[in-house]
Amino acid sequence: MINRTGTPLVEMRDISISFGGIKAVDHVSIDLYPGEVVGLLGHNGAGKSTLIKILAGAYRADHGKILINGEQVEIDNPRDARNLNIETIYQTLALADNLDTASNLFLGREIKKRGIVDDAKMEAEARKIMGRLNPNFRKFNVPVSSLSGGQRQSVAIARAVYFNAKILIMDEPTAALGPHETQMVAELIQELKAQGLGIFLIEHDIHNVMKLCDRASVMKNGQLVGTVKVDEVTDDDILGMIIMGKKPAIAA
Ligand SMILES: Nc1ncnc2c1ncn2[C@@H]1O[C@H](COP(=O)(O)OP(=O)(O)OP(=O)(O)O)[C@@H](O)[C@H]1O
Ligand SMILES: [Mg+2]
Repeated sequence: MINRTGTPLVEMRDISISFGGIKAVDHVSIDLYPGEVVGLLGHNGAGKSTLIKILAGAYRADHGKILINGEQVEIDNPRDARNLNIETIYQTLALADNLDTASNLFLGREIKKRGIVDDAKMEAEARKIMGRLNPNFRKFNVPVSSLSGGQRQSVAIARAVYFNAKILIMDEPTAALGPHETQMVAELIQELKAQGLGIFLIEHDIHNVMKLCDRASVMKNGQLVGTVKVDEVTDDDILGMIIMGKKPAIAA
């Protein structure tokens, strides 16, 4: 069971950001506890990606504050986010297609020995972490462009985990995957949860939400409709929140 009486891993309080005249995120508050998966839901343009980009340091909020383990932090850029053990896996995965798994794992954070990139060490580390996360993975010496969608996703997840993510942001990790690979990523998410990571999961598929998330925060037109515990609501309750912006009777 998730202990939601302690200090949250993440609190985003009263966050707003506008682009030109558009309020992309409008006074939204969400939180996340260790070992918890919180789904971020809402139609296209609801503000989900923008909200998590503020946590990831890609954008700066116009208003509001962020607390990590109960302490207010300033996240001005992606480096600040990483220093707080916040790792983000974007919709695009941000992999370098022409490089192999190990090179992608360490992209921008290469292991060096006397100033020279240590390829052997990086491959050994890559094999170690992939062996833990995705034991069937064998394609270490080919460009990641030749990997399947699920394998690419596992490389992106391995990169986050290797660098000690405590807070993981995943933007639609299974959107481009078939059922088998979706299941693999689902198992990865369960494994990370069991290790005590907190995960914000942007997800459109209601079945994945019900299966993977502990709570769901629904956004519409930049605003938070509400947050619910998924085991206290039905699929239809959540769909009602997404489509009509209607809050169910029970709110988490
Ligand atoms: N860099 C930007 N400049 C201008 N407008 C932006 C920018 N980023 C997002 N927006 C606008 O902010 C709103 C929220 O967009 P956002 O990408 O956060 O939605 P989303 O919920 O992630 O949608 P999707 O499900 O399509 O990924 C939209 O109206 C979008 O056009
Ligand atoms: Mg988005």
